Amino acid sequence: MCGVFGYIGNKTNIAPLVLEGLKSLEYRGYDSWGVAVVALNLQPEIKNKIYFKKRIGKIGGANVDSLPAGSLAIGHTRWATHGGVTRENAHPHLDCTESIALIHNGIVENYIDLKKELLAGNHVFKSETDTEVIVHLLEENSRKLSFEEAFLKTFNQLEGLNAIVAIDKKERVILAARKGSPLVIGFGKNEHFIASDPSALLPFTKDVYFLEDDQMAIIKDDSVKIININSAKEVKFLKQMLDWDVSSAEIGEFEHFMIKEIYDQPAVIHDIANNAIVGSDNILSLINEAEDIYLVGCGTASYACLVGKALFSKIAKKQVHAAIGSEFEDQLKFINKKSLIIALSQSGETIDLLEPVRKAQQKGAKILAFVNVLGSSLFRMADEKILIGAGLEKAVASTKAFIGKISHLLLLAYALDKRKSQGQRLLLEAVESIRIILQEKNLKNIKKLAHKISNEKDIFVIGRGLYFPASLEAALKIKEISYIHAEGVAAGELKHGPLALVEKDTPCIVLLPDDETTALTLANAMEMKARGGYIIGISSINHGVFDFYLPIANIGEASVLPMVVVSQLLAYYLTLEKKLDPDKPRNLAKSVTVR
Ligand code: F6R
Repeated sequence: MCGVFGYIGNKTNIAPLVLEGLKSLEYRGYDSWGVAVVALNLQPEIKNKIYFKKRIGKIGGANVDSLPAGSLAIGHTRWATHGGVTRENAHPHLDCTESIALIHNGIVENYIDLKKELLAGNHVFKSETDTEVIVHLLEENSRKLSFEEAFLKTFNQLEGLNAIVAIDKKERVILAARKGSPLVIGFGKNEHFIASDPSALLPFTKDVYFLEDDQMAIIKDDSVKIININSAKEVKFLKQMLDWDVSSAEIGEFEHFMIKEIYDQPAVIHDIANNAIVGSDNILSLINEAEDIYLVGCGTASYACLVGKALFSKIAKKQVHAAIGSEFEDQLKFINKKSLIIALSQSGETIDLLEPVRKAQQKGAKILAFVNVLGSSLFRMADEKILIGAGLEKAVASTKAFIGKISHLLLLAYALDKRKSQGQRLLLEAVESIRIILQEKNLKNIKKLAHKISNEKDIFVIGRGLYFPASLEAALKIKEISYIHAEGVAAGELKHGPLALVEKDTPCIVLLPDDETTALTLANAMEMKARGGYIIGISSINHGVFDFYLPIANIGEASVLPMVVVSQLLAYYLTLEKKLDPDKPRNLAKSVTVR
């Protein structure tokens, strides 16, 4: 969602650098952007003043050449919540005297009350946003307090989950505070950065500090001070080193991040097979000692939870619950000290997951997190954490983080059944199968199919058991980037409703494993064929019912991995057929930090 980038230091023309920082956050999804810079005193004709530029739409080829030189600046990409997509509503927002500029992620729940008071005090508002309330409140508080004190007071007056960053033309400092929404500080030589996402810092530094909830940062050219916002006392902090490769933030030879990330997958699985710590004694005892276990995630991660549930049942004969983060509140009444929550998240910042997990932790449950972003909120909150190890994922539609999550879960299920090496072997076979899928002749086949069905209005995907959540994931990938309505259906449920929609030439994708469910799933494929459906098989079995066949290897439960990869590629090529941008689907954001 919204992206934050700020700079203070010894560089002197930093508006373009801040714009570059914002560009690296584009993948999070946004609809407008803005940069504010404090002009350098060295330019007498410009005066010590805040200059800003705000625009709606994507940054594209835009520049900030109209902004003066400066060495203190902030920028923001906005994903509209309060107020439409307009230039006025874009951040940064300025106070009445244009001496303070502020950017914000989150939602100020009490903004209506605060706005009423500020309007009564003659503050003039230019936008419809909740953010502008904060900057006027900061202006108000600054009348009697120092900038730092006023900032702290202002932040404490806000209700809801928020992150704010502000600069003042009279002060050589960036102030930032967070509760809920993430912020990370980057440390350079005589310079500091602040961003909503560590990936934006990668080109500049790997030396970072992830601000904790209820912390405020006072960031100067050569120092960073962290304050607890409740006690106003300084707290000690430890920096961390980002473990991502700078090249993972670059697109390289690929046309889109999504296809690059699909290609990254064999290496991700290979690494998990060889290096993952999921089978460690403390993880296994955490699981074995728990009385009830809940796998929780949102969107694609929630489908990984369902895959995990099926794998635990099938391989380790262990019963676990799977839940969607935004629906988990209702289950909290069953959570106690003996519960274990296994939380899955690429970003580690998904608010619909963080909130219920935090509440479960307060009830005494242990938290085991599978998370891709080191230092993220979930990473820090969890009692035990496993880094997914997918590397930076930039395309909005998650691919390699999903594959990483289910590879870990498969290995964990085998480790629980004391057969970890068998799990490793299957993962390595999946690596080979996916490498074959990514060969040109197979891609040609998938592109041919995409060309044939790209004008259809509905696509159905069926699967049974372990392959039902895979069907949900396949349908999600197709619909979110190609905008073709796609539905994942438990194969056995077809006759209970969805079959009514299958007519002549309706594309019906069948995820057909070679296992105890094959015969029943084939019978369901026949039912769709009998209604005129165009049957597409993703399977190791080239069955006569298929009108179009996409082969994968038969590798036991790990077959789910290549099946998903084939469906990711189909979604990608369908999107290209429709001349859409697979990396930035409309209305969606990479990291969902508001509820
Ligand atoms: C879909 C997709 C989303 C995310 C969901 C959770 O392709 O990417 O459904 O999976 O928003 O995100 P994380 O895993 O960051 O918690």
